[in-house]
Amino acid sequence: MSGVLEVSSEWLALREAEDARARSLPLAEAAAALLPPGPVTVHDLGSGTGSMARWLAPLLPGPQTWVLHDWNADLTAHAQRGDAPRDRHGSAVALRSSVEPLEQLTAAHLAAGSLVTASALLDVLTAGEAHAIVDACVAARVPALLSLSVTGDVELQPRDPRDRRIATAFNHHQRREVEGRRLLGPYAGRIVEGLFSLAGWNVRRALTTWRLSDRDPRLLTEWFDGWVEAAEQQDPRLLDEASGYRELRHAQLRRGEFSAVVYHLDLLAWPR
Ligand SMILES: C[S@@+](CC[C@H](N)C(=O)[O-])C[C@H]1O[C@@H](n2cnc3c(N)ncnc32)[C@H](O)[C@@H]1O
Repeated sequence: MSGVLEVSSEWLALREAEDARARSLPLAEAAAALLPPGPVTVHDLGSGTGSMARWLAPLLPGPQTWVLHDWNADLTAHAQRGDAPRDRHGSAVALRSSVEPLEQLTAAHLAAGSLVTASALLDVLTAGEAHAIVDACVAARVPALLSLSVTGDVELQPRDPRDRRIATAFNHHQRREVEGRRLLGPYAGRIVEGLFSLAGWNVRRALTTWRLSDRDPRLLTEWFDGWVEAAEQQDPRLLDEASGYRELRHAQLRRGEFSAVVYHLDLLAWPR
């Protein structure tokens, strides 16, 4: 696992409610309709602490088994603590972990699977990992519900002329090379959509949004600070400009005047 790209359970907990509000319900219902009758096995890729299972399990029939795939064993262990999510009928789902880098995913991992899921994953993958996931789904003929890939588009209110420069640098940062891995960043959702289409699969898409405001000032602050910091790392010429920009945005946030919409793409892909 890459230390630089490691995510914390605290960050995943902070964003969980907004992720749940943002994910496309129509695509989740369409995924549920693709499931064959009987026991369901869901493979959640890049599961982190299991937020996708907590959101989706109650929308699917049971009995359900979730296999949580992540290269971070601490995060999957976290998912096993506490109460298991419940299926549509109120029964607890079974949770298993599979700790491996997704580049190694094959159809054998997904054998007898009913559904593949991922949330907030595709943009931190490489092209090789994205191909491995699509190839594995296609070879095993398992539909995939892939939620919340960032598109790189953001809308901040009130507008500021510096927004665009920071956004451009941030989006380049999302496509940087980290320890030999070139990330797909904001292109990820469209690339994976294209790979499934090229394989002859049906693909449905939904534009989904994080809507950040003083309703949840901690999430807005963390997201905004991370967004600006990444832009500064990418383009150190922004350092001077960004410090005044950051102060202004924090003052606006304290007065309840600052909000952000962060655009994502959700995909559902299934065999014809
Ligand atoms: C932004 S987090 C999202 C976690 C979870 N899906 C959620 O929505 O809360 C991305 C997750 O993918 C995992 N991950 C990223 N790249 C991976 C890779 N190449 N192989 C395996 N896991 C990976 C990370 O460890 C992290 O848990």
